[in-house]
Amino acid sequence: MAKEKNNMSLPDVFPRHIGFIMDGNGRWAKKRHMPRTFGHVEGAKTFEKIVRYCRDIGIECISFYAFSTENWKRSSDEVKAIINLLRQYIARARDYFVDETRMVFIGDKSAFPEDMRQQMIDIENETRDFDKMTLIIAVNYGGRDEIKNAAKQIARKALKGEIDPDQITEETVAAHLYTSEFPDVDLLIRPSGELRISNYLIWQCAYAEFYFSDVLWPDFMPEELNKALHEYAGRSRRFGGV
Ligand code: IPE
Ligand code: IPE
Ligand code: MG
Repeated sequence: MAKEKNNMSLPDVFPRHIGFIMDGNGRWAKKRHMPRTFGHVEGAKTFEKIVRYCRDIGIECISFYAFSTENWKRSSDEVKAIINLLRQYIARARDYFVDETRMVFIGDKSAFPEDMRQQMIDIENETRDFDKMTLIIAVNYGGRDEIKNAAKQIARKALKGEIDPDQITEETVAAHLYTSEFPDVDLLIRPSGELRISNYLIWQCAYAEFYFSDVLWPDFMPEELNKALHEYAGRSRRFGGV
């Protein structure tokens, strides 16, 4: 029996973890002769819509790339606007608590002002036991930065004699990543026509299925997500087997 939501049919098989690279905000604004920051405001609205939809249909874990370790290269006005949107979102995050959504911020939080950093940690602590869905937001996140940090932690433990270098496994590395408690990415969605991963969850996407779309992120609606879900359900995942 196929599932259904808002008259849209849903496949029987869902990915456990969907990763979203929210891309195309700037081009969306440019097409409308508006400043890039306007695109980020609209993109933030789409983010909230997609989060609610995923919660409604029962996805276990979703993650969103909001700001990369490379995005500091942008103009200080644009960086400020994005961080400000994040600040506003954090201030309203408790709206989600009623939905029993666990919230986690991955990335190097040390780059953010102390009050924001503390708020992110508070939200993580207050939602730790919620199990209806996990919402991961990647801020100042880079996949290589994450793996480098894991290597540092493991090296420190090895120096202290807590880890034997010969006993280091893939699980050891995974356990030192920000995502240690969450499943690997099953479905990675990138809108905006770019066909690349841009340093997002590079370890966790090792066997992810990719869905690319030309839609720009502010226009990415639940209907588009449904297309991705149907395509995912039809894929044959082999993980190196036959
Ligand atoms: C994604 O949209 C948002 C962030 C990277 C923060 P972009 O700002 O990259 O939009 P385009 O790719 O320039 O259109
Ligand atoms: C990826 O988008 C980062 C986020 C969505 C936060 P970018 O726009 O920064 O990626 P590139 O530069 O096109 O690869
Ligand atoms: Mg972009």
